[in-house]
Amino acid sequence: MVSLSPSLQARLATPLKIGQFEVNSRVLQSPLSGVTDLVFRRLVRRYAPDSMMYTEMVNATGLHYVQHLPKIMEIDPNERPISIQLFDCRPDFLAEAAQKAVAEGADTIDINMGCPVNKITKNGGGSSLLRQPEVAEAIVRSVVAAVPVPVTVKTRIGWSDKEINAIEFAQRMQDAGAQMLTLHGRTRAQGYNGPARWEWIAKVKSVLSIPVIANGDIFSVDAAVRCLEETGADGVMCSRGTLGYPFLVGEVDYFLKTGTLRQPPSPIERLECARDHLQMLWEYKGDRGIRQARKHMTWYAKGFTSASELRGQLAVIETLDQGLALIDAAIARLSSEGWQVEESASPQLISV
Ligand SMILES: Cc1cc2nc3c(=O)[nH]c(=O)nc-3n(C[C@H](O)[C@H](O)[C@H](O)COP(=O)(O)O)c2cc1C
Repeated sequence: MVSLSPSLQARLATPLKIGQFEVNSRVLQSPLSGVTDLVFRRLVRRYAPDSMMYTEMVNATGLHYVQHLPKIMEIDPNERPISIQLFDCRPDFLAEAAQKAVAEGADTIDINMGCPVNKITKNGGGSSLLRQPEVAEAIVRSVVAAVPVPVTVKTRIGWSDKEINAIEFAQRMQDAGAQMLTLHGRTRAQGYNGPARWEWIAKVKSVLSIPVIANGDIFSVDAAVRCLEETGADGVMCSRGTLGYPFLVGEVDYFLKTGTLRQPPSPIERLECARDHLQMLWEYKGDRGIRQARKHMTWYAKGFTSASELRGQLAVIETLDQGLALIDAAIARLSSEGWQVEESASPQLISV
């Protein structure tokens, strides 16, 4: 049974201070490309109204050449606190992009220095900046000088096991003016495999004066509490644990604030959430939203008899009506027959 020690509760009782900006939650929803659009963030915020959320990462060079901002930068005027995440390797383009992000309403600007994807790293962005700390530093200085809001960095512990440089790198980011650092406890070489090495997060936390947010393998309230205890971090960021489970950030936040566990959603409540998600994606993005919804729908359909059959059907939906009919039929079946837990319904590793 997870419990909240008085010392941890006391340590986290105050707002998270990102420079001058205060957030009334120590749990953050991570940026997830292809996932954390305005619709998904709206669902997460239902259960975690105070938490910091991030857009999907936005290419700063791309922004330099377009007249209209891409849809992934769109922010709902009611959704605060919100950070826009940018990636690139050019300090000037990043500064310009950051100004556009602030004009759009971003409370903070986050720079992605952790993405492992080849397409990004071969152009000098994401985690390849771990190997170019002088460029990373120039980026932070340039963006800090360009915008009035706090600038933050999200990175990994190093490029590979032979090149773990999290401590020096984090110090350089702080010296350059970063106001918060989120550390994913894996190397670039690990991708998303193997356990996140929280011990490196603890080491980085011990040398920085800005807030450090721990990221990697936060799939439950229990994991969040253990991570906060083991690392001494100022907060935790939930990532893959939120796929098909926009309840997670709220569950952790509620526990850290009250010391009691919020009742997890039943399979029916999860399907009702999936239904809302599908409907909202269609309203926001039309047919493209339906194609994007397929993966989300399969992530939701979990934890009851015949879930795998439903997943197969939801993976190929073509229209809103088709998706709604499948979900409604499943809800009706579960309501009349009851449901048996056939597989774990809690958030778990989803291969992406
Ligand atoms: C589908 C997917 C998309 C991601 N997109 C981003 C992104 O846009 N920006 C970013 O900084 N990290 C991104 N990440 C990394 C996550 O934010 C997080 O650092 C990583 O998944 C580790 O946390 P976890 O072990 O709890 O999943 C992405 C991860 C996944 C699985």
